[in-house]
Amino acid sequence: MAPEDLIKEAIIAQKRAEAPYSNYPVGAALLTIDNSVILGCNIESKAYSTTLCAERVAIFSAISQGYKDFSAIALITQDGAFPCGSCRQIIHEYAGNIPLYIAKDLDNYDTQTISDLLPYPFG
Ligand code: THU
Repeated sequence: MAPEDLIKEAIIAQKRAEAPYSNYPVGAALLTIDNSVILGCNIESKAYSTTLCAERVAIFSAISQGYKDFSAIALITQDGAFPCGSCRQIIHEYAGNIPLYIAKDLDNYDTQTISDLLPYPFG
């Protein structure tokens, strides 16, 4: 699947974000090796620290649905920000050294690998 197609899926997920406190919706689209796409969005809580990031929602959802092998993840935010440290760790542990397409919009995205973003991972 082309990066742009995976980013389009992440845009769908971003629209589902529940981010009333930060007003910072994040969308993630995780591609499995058999070309399924699992979406995630950030979901915030009145008890702020129980908020979940879009990337981890996508990965935990995929794993709970029985998917184990992943080939890429697309992320979208309003400013093209890179994933937080906790999400980098989970991507490393459960998806391995996959490419990340980190987008601001369909025409502006950066391709990174998790080994570049998390060079000395725990474990
Ligand atoms: N957020 C993500 O969804 N992914 C990240 O990698 C960093 C931050 C969310 C959490 C919170 O809902 C909002 O963005 C602002 O931090």
